[in-house]
Amino acid sequence: MKVNFTETVLRDANQSLIATRMPIEKFREILPVLDKAGYYSLECWGGATFDSCLRYLNEDPWERLRTIRAACPNTKLQMLLRGQNLLGYKHYPDDVVRKFVELSVKNGIDIIRIFDALNDLRNIQVAVDQTLKSGAIASGAISYTTSPVHTLENYVKLCKEMKEMGCQTICIKDMAGVITPKETYDLVSAIKNALPDMPLILHTHCTTGMAFMSVIKAVEAGCDIIDTATSCFSGGTSQPATETVYDALEQMGYQIPINRKVLKEVNDFFKPIRDEYLASGLLKPKAMATDTDALTYKVPGGMLSNLMAQLEAMNALDRLDEALIETPKVREDLGYPPLVTPMSQMVGVQAATNVLTGERYKNVSKEVKAYLHGEYGKAPGKVNPELQKKVLGDEKPITCRYADLLEPEFEKTKAKLGDIAKCDEDVLSYIAFPQVAEKFFEARREKEENVAKYTIVEA
Ligand code: CO
Repeated sequence: MKVNFTETVLRDANQSLIATRMPIEKFREILPVLDKAGYYSLECWGGATFDSCLRYLNEDPWERLRTIRAACPNTKLQMLLRGQNLLGYKHYPDDVVRKFVELSVKNGIDIIRIFDALNDLRNIQVAVDQTLKSGAIASGAISYTTSPVHTLENYVKLCKEMKEMGCQTICIKDMAGVITPKETYDLVSAIKNALPDMPLILHTHCTTGMAFMSVIKAVEAGCDIIDTATSCFSGGTSQPATETVYDALEQMGYQIPINRKVLKEVNDFFKPIRDEYLASGLLKPKAMATDTDALTYKVPGGMLSNLMAQLEAMNALDRLDEALIETPKVREDLGYPPLVTPMSQMVGVQAATNVLTGERYKNVSKEVKAYLHGEYGKAPGKVNPELQKKVLGDEKPITCRYADLLEPEFEKTKAKLGDIAKCDEDVLSYIAFPQVAEKFFEARREKEENVAKYTIVEA
């Protein structure tokens, strides 16, 4: 049996441990070495990397991608895309989604992992279609959660629909790190039984301590690819360690097309960088530790800390237990959305509000209203009809895909930006993060002017 690895140090590990603050100068040197390791793919773009480049690092995210591409000609480059939301949380019109996918591939991406927070496949369809048209690999990802409607049968059905749609691989995406070894084994077995030829990937986080065990059980059940992070950037809120999982699986007799010596070289390179971030406080020791609260309370760690912060701000931390009892009830009323951003915030805030006002749904946020209106997509289960009536009144929820209601935006924005945007990539940066991109363009222009002045003096 063969097992492949996706290395996440440049994207998810970077995002989960140090809020995606690693600038390219820190890792440029190691790129040719990463290229020699033999990873199935290098996850290096998408997710929060794009926003972080523009907002905090004064880096052009497209330039970063091209740099990685040039330095890693032999390894597949992978990105994470939130379907119709691209890299954020709002829905974009189809022309923008298509252009974004097309240019991501043109600038160097080989694999696009595409997911929707509600697993509403209508929200990934356009991105999948364009990925295939652009000649890249479309990987459909399931947002993993547990609930009475998230059964093995329903997950298998989802995978079959993804295959039908053209997805060439499927990923079980456990963003909260809550999947247990048994759940992993059962889910991987069920999917592999139904779709034996579909390459299957497990993506999880070490947050609750389950991940190392789950990864082994996944492989035992026939999982083809696993996501890991070089050991000094592994564990805690990040992925399980690449070298550890490699050694464990290799001893069990699995064939892994990876050069173990290179893995050490990679880790030796990143260790002092990790230590720097620990010393500066950007990397908090807590992020690297195991936290089982998510298992106890059945809510992801990030959601729990948000809930506590919200109650604390209202001087009501003593109501935490009530809020935690209310949380699954709100989730049930909303049709069991996976507790990932932005649904985790929505459910948490509503539960706290229900408790603090003393009357359920006396106040409802505009996000919950939009959700009940169908703007995020179709809920996995049945939404409480009384709640829907109470919040929407006579307004009917939409049944179409929200993006069907949006006007094309790309050409209009390009015309509006004029000279400010130097290329179509700039236009997309602007559409994704308008204010942040504008500031970035301005800083870039100033820098170029300074370089021009300097050159004249030198001459
Ligand atoms: Co992740």
